[in-house]
Amino acid sequence: MEYGNKTTRVVVIGTGFVGSSYAFSLINQNVTDEMVLIDLNKEKTEGDAMDLNHGIPFGYPTKIWAGDYSDCKDADIVVITAGANQKPGETRLDLIEKNAKIFKSIVGHVMDSGFKGIFIVATNPVDILAHATWKYSGLPMERVIGSGTILDTARFRFLLGQYFDIDVRNIHGYIMGEHGDTELPVWSQTRIGSEHIKRYMEKYKPDGKQEDLDEIFVNVRDAAYHIIERKGATHYAIAMGLVRLTKAILRNESSILTVSTLLKGEYGLDDLYIGVPAVVCKNGVDRVIEIDLDDSEMEKLHHSANVLKEAMKPIFE
Ligand code: LAC
Repeated sequence: MEYGNKTTRVVVIGTGFVGSSYAFSLINQNVTDEMVLIDLNKEKTEGDAMDLNHGIPFGYPTKIWAGDYSDCKDADIVVITAGANQKPGETRLDLIEKNAKIFKSIVGHVMDSGFKGIFIVATNPVDILAHATWKYSGLPMERVIGSGTILDTARFRFLLGQYFDIDVRNIHGYIMGEHGDTELPVWSQTRIGSEHIKRYMEKYKPDGKQEDLDEIFVNVRDAAYHIIERKGATHYAIAMGLVRLTKAILRNESSILTVSTLLKGEYGLDDLYIGVPAVVCKNGVDRVIEIDLDDSEMEKLHHSANVLKEAMKPIFE
């Protein structure tokens, strides 16, 4: 897929909190030439398109319209944010049944248009729905990408940056696994600048404690619950993560992002979508990066994979 001078088109399916925040961010970051909004609530998409178009003079030239599935034919990227989201106390895995049904219909309509681009899946449980999108679409795995733990990794870097009073751009570390309760922090490969986190703490934060780091991870893992308790949904940060992923594709960046992609033996795992560091470019996922995990981290990753495999059985049986 060559973008070059091609007019780029992104289709957003689902214009609820996440989809509309993503659309708003796309315009403000000058990412795409065209943006199409699709939702069951056609009036909402028409209103969103009008409202976003009126902001173009303050943003960047982007053609925006409320469209339908036929607009997917010439799309480079289709982002699916449609579906039910977590209610207070609900886990992401609790959403499987209802969202898998919605996805079968959505993916079918998109593929019927003649779509030949890349799916980005954001709806939860994102690992399982990305796997479902890959199966339902018949596209090569590299062209079906889940947002995975891209947001969790951002939360991890943000909270570590706060703890060490360091710019987040100099905090290097990943959250891997399910985008959910079984995700894991890769402490063995976390660095502040080029210094391993343990060595950094010895030298620059001698009062720092492992318990503080453990608390930071718990706050990362449970962030969505705390935000949903307060405001009913999360949407700004995930929308910005989706824009980051969109840019990596449209600009052929070859960026390493912890997306949800299909493993085929990497990390000793096979035939499931799960959050791992991967190189993202114009063709989607170019390759998985297999970082060295310690025994405990590998065990947690396999546990996360087993939870996902068990949870997805009802929709693929
Ligand atoms: C969250 C949603 C995107 O973690 O699952 O905020």
